[in-house]
Amino acid sequence: MGRFSEEGKRNIKNYTYMPFGDGHRICIGMRFARLQVKTGLLHLLRHFRVQTRDARTPIRYGKLPVQVRPTNIDLQFVPRTSK
Ligand code: HEM
Repeated sequence: MGRFSEEGKRNIKNYTYMPFGDGHRICIGMRFARLQVKTGLLHLLRHFRVQTRDARTPIRYGKLPVQVRPTNIDLQFVPRTSK
């Protein structure tokens, strides 16, 4: 079961991940920031195919605060050829 399936979403405990804070001081730019990230991803994926290179399982995550980032996966951005 994936995290993004309907069942998976229901099983996520509140406050497990809250990059924008929560409550009455929640980030007021959250929706704008998400929109910008989606727009950026769209532009990126329009021009590049993303593939893993040498992906090893299980995924390991870095211990830096703020960023949640896998440390053992290399991504390769392959330009999409235009017709
Ligand atoms: C990926 C982008 C962003 C992240 C991860 C982020 C994250 C956060 C976090 C963690 C807080 C503190 C929430 C709390 O105290 O519970 C916050 C507050 C705030 N953010 Fe953002 N933010 C982002 C983008 C933006 C943008 C684009 C704007 C404005 C256009 C913005 C405006 C604000 C403001 C004004 C507050 C203070 C809200 C308050 O204290 O009442 N943020 N943000």
